[in-house]
Formats: sequence, C-alpha cells, structure tokens
Amino acid sequence: MKISRLIEQSKVGEKAQKDQFAIDVLTGLCATPKNLAAKYFYDDIGSEIFRNITQHKDYYPTRTEYEILDMVKQELPKIIDEETIDIIELGAGDGHKSQLIIDGFLNANRRVNFYPIDISEKAMLMLRDNIKTHDNLNIHGVVAEYFEGLRYVKERSNNKQLVLFLGSNIGNFDRVQNQGFLRKLWMSLSTSDHVMLGFDLKKDVSVLTAAYNDSSGHTKAFNLNLLTRINRELGGDFDTEKFQHFGVYSPTLGAMESYVLATEEQDVYISALERSFHFDAYEPIHLEYSFKFLKSDIDFLSQKTGFEVVAHFSDPKDYFADSLWKVVKGSDC
Ligand code: AVI
Repeated sequence: MKISRLIEQSKVGEKAQKDQFAIDVLTGLCATPKNLAAKYFYDDIGSEIFRNITQHKDYYPTRTEYEILDMVKQELPKIIDEETIDIIELGAGDGHKSQLIIDGFLNANRRVNFYPIDISEKAMLMLRDNIKTHDNLNIHGVVAEYFEGLRYVKERSNNKQLVLFLGSNIGNFDRVQNQGFLRKLWMSLSTSDHVMLGFDLKKDVSVLTAAYNDSSGHTKAFNLNLLTRINRELGGDFDTEKFQHFGVYSPTLGAMESYVLATEEQDVYISALERSFHFDAYEPIHLEYSFKFLKSDIDFLSQKTGFEVVAHFSDPKDYFADSLWKVVKGSDC
C-alpha cells in the first residue's frame, strides 16, 4: 500500500491543531447552551471506545450496514459496469465494510484502485492491516482532509469513481451542513461518478435510545472522554464523576442528541484558556447530533444536491440504508 501525506504532521501542525481545539472549547463553553464539537471525540482513546460501541449488541448501525453491504456487493459491478474503478473511502474506518465492496468488484473480474482518505495516518495504517491483497487491487492511502484528498485523486486518474461515505457519518452533520457537504462532494466529482452513503433510518424510539445509551456504558465513556481529553490536552480540571451522560431522541429534529449534564453546581478551570467556567446544577453540554432519515428525506437530499438515486439498499427491518447515487451535471437544482 502506497501512502501519500498531504497534511503536515509536524510540531507546527500539532500546535495549530491544539490551538484550534482550545478556541473551539472556549467558544463552545461560552455559548448558551454550552456545547463541544463532536469531531473532538476521536482522539486515540475515543476512537478505541467508538470501536467498542460499534461492536456492542445495542448499537445496531454497524452490523446492519455490514449485512446490507454483504448482500449487495455483487450488485454493484452490474450497476457500475467499468473494467477499472476507483473506490474512494472518506474516513478510513477499519476496512471491513470497504473490503466487502472491493470484493464485489474483484469477484466480477474488475480492477480496483482503492483510495482511503483520512486525516489520521494512524487510522490509515490500521486499515492497511485489514485489507486483503489481490493482483487486481491497488491500495493508495491519502492522508488529507476529505476534499483535498478527492482533488488529489481526481488529478491523477481518469477512471470512474465510487465514493464511499459509510456508517451514517452524514447523520452527524445538521441539515444545513449535510447539504453543504454533499454539494462540495458533487463539485469534486464528474458526471456518472457514483457515491454510496450510509443513512441510519427513523425507527422505534426505544431502539434508538438503547443504541445511544448502551448497557455496557461505552457511549457514556465515549462522551465523558471528551472532558478527560480537555483535562489532558488543555489542562482542565473536569471531575467526570460530577457529569452524567444523557442520550435522547428529539422527534422534532429527527435526531438522537448526546449531552453530558453537570450533576451539581460547580466551576471548572482550564489552564490553557486561563479561565474557569461555571456550571449550574443539571446544566447540559451538547455534544452530538445523530440525525435519522426517511427514504423520502434521502431522495430529497440527493435531488437538492445534484445527484440521482440509483438504489436504496436496506435490511429487512429497514433500520439502515446504503444509498447509491449517481452524479448528474447540467440540470436544474
Ligand atoms: C460516527 N457516528 C456515525 C456515530 C453515530 O451513530 O452518530 C457516533 C456515535 N455516537 C454515539 N454512538 C455512536
């Protein structure tokens, strides 16, 4: 596997990232209601806890999506009938789901160039260990921001592209952000390229709340780890015993929301910010949205952002959908 690094992983880069983290924490804890950006969940410890969540029986999305992809993998080369295809994955993941899609094309005697794109070199190296080698498979990891990585691949290849954005990551954007993201994706691609997006579907609220309040406490640990990360990296003195995890479905938003609540009135000092933050008893910090979709929401989103739905692939319970879209250029919004 070849790896191209488009972002600087130097001391200067690290310092800039830490400064940005400090600014975002300051902005979030000064806001009303207080919030912290979900992208900061994924330090090494948070990524490990997230892996535990995805393997837990209460968290259905990962295994359901795996089942769907296993069922449809042989359909994809019939729909995208190319001798050589570039499969680009946004977010390296652990490679298990990408392997299914790659296998679908390899089993149909197609050549595959697989380009995982991720800002974390560590994630890339982990994925490398999980993808099986094959004579018709080239793997080229790109350590970059998503759109920078997509531009890099486009500049080097004339093959048709299939971009994967799996795992319902799109659900962590709000409804404005997801359209912005999809329009940027559309801009980065050419007519008749395809994207495959994982969407978690709306379902019984008890199933949703169990998934985001798993019985082993992984989701709780995942959320509280963000406070521990602030302690570690910014010199905070959060006492995680004085915060509780709260995962709740908002039917008006159509989203699961994750909070941590201060269980008593307290002040928290963060030395990198040279100030303290006051919490009233039961004051929340909002951490994450996980939006849920109807298939009609997915149709609307694709049409709004310049794509045509080729197929929604879902499981028998309709818990999750992997939706295959084709890029359409030259028509009205
Ligand atoms: C990464 N993302 C799609 C997960 C989700 O379901 O929204 C993150 C997560 N948060 C709590 N559990 C899982």
